[in-house]
Amino acid sequence: MELMDAIRERRAVREFADTALDRSILENLIVAATQAPSAMNLQPWAFAVLTNRRGIDDYAERAKKWLLDHWTQTGLGAPARKILDPADFTIFYHAPALVVVLATSSGRQADEDCCLAAQNLMLAARDQGIGTCWIGFARPWLDLPATKRELGLPQQYRVVAPVVLGYPTKWPEPHGRKPVEIHWLQDGAESKSGRPDLTARGVEVVLKDFDGSRTIYPTELPLQRFIHTAEIQDLEAVVGKTYFKTEETDDRGRVIYAEQR
Ligand SMILES: Cc1cc2nc3c(=O)[nH]c(=O)nc-3n(C[C@H](O)[C@H](O)[C@H](O)COP(=O)(O)O)c2cc1C
Repeated sequence: MELMDAIRERRAVREFADTALDRSILENLIVAATQAPSAMNLQPWAFAVLTNRRGIDDYAERAKKWLLDHWTQTGLGAPARKILDPADFTIFYHAPALVVVLATSSGRQADEDCCLAAQNLMLAARDQGIGTCWIGFARPWLDLPATKRELGLPQQYRVVAPVVLGYPTKWPEPHGRKPVEIHWLQDGAESKSGRPDLTARGVEVVLKDFDGSRTIYPTELPLQRFIHTAEIQDLEAVVGKTYFKTEETDDRGRVIYAEQR
């Protein structure tokens, strides 16, 4: 699978087939996780792995109970409580495997490093047809000294990313993404007027008006907003008070023309 496809098609998976995940598969995913960048190349991560479904279900139940019993302490809000409350809700979704990314140092950027490792793991899993879901709900309970003692994990390690894995029964539909907010800072591609020079970035926009006429985007267009969303390679532009939306992109996802809406 191409990397961009794995990025686009990774989904939080919450329904898993019964198929177990071999240790060698999990090891490969963890090796992929460790290819992530880390501040000063400190690689401040360790991985705890559980592949016993009954055990995972049991931890899910205990973590949930702890959350409900210590709700105010968790800092979680009402929407999270609504998800957690139903009696049949289980935080690990009966997954066949759980990998917990732990920060091994208290360094300032260890958490960021572990998040990157977790993202690598999730993308590598997607590449292999394996679904993942990061389970933030599990963090407070897993990080308790008593839980770490029980699991045999060093007390000084911090739980950063609990991720469940398994073969999905089906890939969920994408939720879509908000329009991305980009602040193009002065980068040499700005026009003299201070406005973005889109042609300098290789983006050519043709605006199509209601009467069908097409106007090639002039470089110094009084562009007020330019949004290029990663998901649909979309462009929305507000030119003066007029709103334009992408109608066509080229094979590299660049906007060919936008239409007045
Ligand atoms: C830090 C973090 C914590 C999350 N915690 C949970 C969780 O506890 N339970 C859950 O079902 N999903 C959890 N998710 C998954 C998100 O809900 C999911 O990524 C988001 O809805 C976007 O969907 P997508 O991943 O399919 O694009 C978490 C994701 C992140 C990054």
